[in-house]
Amino acid sequence: MNLLFLGDIAAAPGRAAVAKYVPQLRAKYSLDGVVANGENSAHGRGITAETAREIFAAGVDAITLGDHTFDQKGTEELLANTPTLIRPANYPPGSAGRGFTSFTTAAGKRVGVLNLQGRVFIAQQIDCPFQYSRNFIETHKLGKDYDALVVDIHTEATAEAVSLGHFWDGHASLVVGTHTHIPTADAHVLPKGTAYQTDAGMCGDYNSSLGMSFESVLPNFLSRGRHGFQPATGEGTLCGTLVSTDDATGLATAVKPIRLGPNLPEAQ
Ligand SMILES: [Fe+2]
Ligand SMILES: [Fe+2]
Repeated sequence: MNLLFLGDIAAAPGRAAVAKYVPQLRAKYSLDGVVANGENSAHGRGITAETAREIFAAGVDAITLGDHTFDQKGTEELLANTPTLIRPANYPPGSAGRGFTSFTTAAGKRVGVLNLQGRVFIAQQIDCPFQYSRNFIETHKLGKDYDALVVDIHTEATAEAVSLGHFWDGHASLVVGTHTHIPTADAHVLPKGTAYQTDAGMCGDYNSSLGMSFESVLPNFLSRGRHGFQPATGEGTLCGTLVSTDDATGLATAVKPIRLGPNLPEAQ
């Protein structure tokens, strides 16, 4: 199978890049499925029914989230009504929504999608992603419960991300980071067959501070005061990770970063 994962979709430029490039990429790489992180899709913060609809309409099969999950009103209801929209699975029991979903490809293959959030340098009260992963790996098997598994690890610290990647090696098709909005140059297949990239990068305007305009961000660094952030409005670049999997085992046979748009060099 060929699966594409897209990093944090940031505001209107990110959504436009996804709408523009995903149909092309589906055809070019004969994609069986697309997963995208949508935590910044609504004006840079959270997700709404409208932005989720737009992302799905572009050809995305499942949407993951992160620390901005609940930034918009109505997300609890949206999560309840949208089985393929998930938030980090290691949120405390009782949190709205779910952290694991699956979808069936046109060829009838089942793709599992798990969303996790790190705890290093992210100030939120959540359960341990490693303990959660250990329990999940004990009860779910790649190649049996699903034909492929994509794990979005929403992390700030690279050390936590690479450690999670190592922890999952052999149990997922792709473990890929989101949240920093900057793509890392370390896409590779780990020794036991799981593809890994510390951060897929953002789908959004790279002439900005992580999707927010420099005009609105710089006052926060230069002075104290009540400053807000405003989304950037320039053309978006799409960033993601493409993984090819073995049909029998679900493990990765190849991984390749994807970058398309005006600001970043295209990945070779
Ligand atoms: Fe985030
Ligand atoms: Fe983000």
